[in-house]
Amino acid sequence: MIPQAFIQDLIARVDIVELIQRYIPLKKAGANYSACCPFHNEKSPSFTVSPSKQFYHCFGCGAHGTAIGFLMEYSGLGFVDAVKDLAQQMGLEVPDDGPAFSGPAREQQRSLIDVMGTAARFYREQLKLNPRAIDYLKRRGLTGDIAARFGIGFAPEGWQNLDKAFPKYDEPALAEAGLVIDNDAGRRYDRFRDRIMFPIQDAKGNVIAFGGRILDAGEPKYLNSPETPLFEKGRELYGLPQARVGIRETGTVIVVEGYMDVVALAQFGVANAVATLGTATTPTHVQKLLRQADRLVFCFDGDKAGRKAARRGLEASLPHLADDKSVCFLFLPAEHDPDSYVREHGAEAFQLAARNATPLGRFLIDSMAEGCDLATAEGRAHLVHNAKEMVPKIAAPVLRLQIVRDLAQVAQLSAEETATALGLAPPPRAAKPYSPDKFGKGSFGKKPLPPPEPRVGVVPLERQLLRVLLAQPRLGDRVPHELVAQLPATDERAAVMAIIDAGEDGSLLDAPLGAWIEHFRDSSHEAAVVRAMQSIEEGYVDESKLEVSLTDLLERLELQAIEAELKTLQGLIASGRANSDAAGRLGALLAKKQKLKSGQTA
Ligand code: CTP
Ligand code: MN
Repeated sequence: MIPQAFIQDLIARVDIVELIQRYIPLKKAGANYSACCPFHNEKSPSFTVSPSKQFYHCFGCGAHGTAIGFLMEYSGLGFVDAVKDLAQQMGLEVPDDGPAFSGPAREQQRSLIDVMGTAARFYREQLKLNPRAIDYLKRRGLTGDIAARFGIGFAPEGWQNLDKAFPKYDEPALAEAGLVIDNDAGRRYDRFRDRIMFPIQDAKGNVIAFGGRILDAGEPKYLNSPETPLFEKGRELYGLPQARVGIRETGTVIVVEGYMDVVALAQFGVANAVATLGTATTPTHVQKLLRQADRLVFCFDGDKAGRKAARRGLEASLPHLADDKSVCFLFLPAEHDPDSYVREHGAEAFQLAARNATPLGRFLIDSMAEGCDLATAEGRAHLVHNAKEMVPKIAAPVLRLQIVRDLAQVAQLSAEETATALGLAPPPRAAKPYSPDKFGKGSFGKKPLPPPEPRVGVVPLERQLLRVLLAQPRLGDRVPHELVAQLPATDERAAVMAIIDAGEDGSLLDAPLGAWIEHFRDSSHEAAVVRAMQSIEEGYVDESKLEVSLTDLLERLELQAIEAELKTLQGLIASGRANSDAAGRLGALLAKKQKLKSGQTA
């Protein structure tokens, strides 16, 4: 693990403009620099680099990040290597084995990688020695070439075979890597026995986990490594290193359910498939894949489980959609999975089906309409009700608009009515001169602000608060915890809390935004923070009026808190359960509310 302090130091010293300039030519454009985006094809520049924020952002494809993030995306480096590379470019000591570099966790990872590598080699050798296993793979139609390409191996029968692979079978690392199980009686045995072994690799090709399939029938059919310091299921995809070239060449990635699906597709020349690992697709998966491909095709089995998996894929996709990317869903005939389909119908038929897969927009509306009788007003209302959960999550603004229009048609409403029902700003054509302050303090109708803006008015408080705090984290000390605590428990609220907390120790208060982004990298707040960052970049926050915006937000929060308490008190009084202070408290609250309100309309 690299200590946060080092990362922060690095971000503080690096000049992102200078760094990016080494890779692509930048042109000065106002306070920022711009270029044609290196991450997608374009003719006019929508890639901007902000020296004050130490952050880059592409308005075209949504790519964004810090100096570290740039190196990762541009050079395809992992986080640690990007940090090392950057440190080296800055002439900083590569803090490799210094004690400040929190050696233990890193050492542990490295030793676990070694352990997994050794196990993978052992399993591969065992496969060669085991005719029964070879025969199984042959029966499933796999060639030796493809088995080698995916490093497929075999864990033989017996309880302690790994004893032969490692000098010390009782080494703790074997358990930490999930290769063995220590039972209650203190006896250790191999987790994987009599199974075909599929090594799961990280982006650099290190083996970080295994999936083991039983030969023929038996339970469980697949046994996977547990989560370990190396392996987090929700982030990893099977077959990614092998698929990288195929993805780049086709611009497309196909997501399937099973190990065998990936391997069989590859054997038939469909070299751009990856699989989730016995888990639902996560937003992290989608984010990872859409960075590398412009088109993502989910291809799930034709059965009920497959449909459910598709829905999870759909939900995971919404927050990472971009208008220049596409996500589609390919439903195979009920009796097929990709493995059996490609064997029966061939690669060409599969590719054709993938090209004609159902676009996300259509699948979204279909699944929201499931169970709704669209012939009735109630059914159509139910559809819009379902949409409220989903449509606002779509991160691609134009696609969202398109879907609102399609939905409106199905729901027999106008697009404006639909948008309003979904809590979204009405489509631009109908947009009114906008005031950021819907409580009337601002300039409603007086001076139209530059478009495009309207989104802000309906953005939930916690999201607005997060944007303001990210734009100027110092303001966090003005935000009382208890006011934030009454907001709905969203990711945004959690991120706001985290900023306030991080601000309290002071070290990041004057750091550029990029440092905050790194602070939240890989944390549960990352997605919310990045969303907020993008909104800031897209001009949804007036950075010259942050203090005023915050005051306004805090007043609105306080009003909410008062309203909530009033409601409780009035309930208590009405039901005769109020204590003697209630009337006094009620009076005080009403007065406070009055004061806040008059302050706002003054
Ligand atoms: N899976 C799992 N644990 C199970 C069953 C399935 O982790 N007990 C995961 C595996 O990643 C598997 C995927 O879900 O590859 C799909 O499962 P399934 O469709 O049942 O298997 P197939 O991939 O079709 O495998 P096979 O063709 O070998 O039967
Ligand atoms: Mn199968």
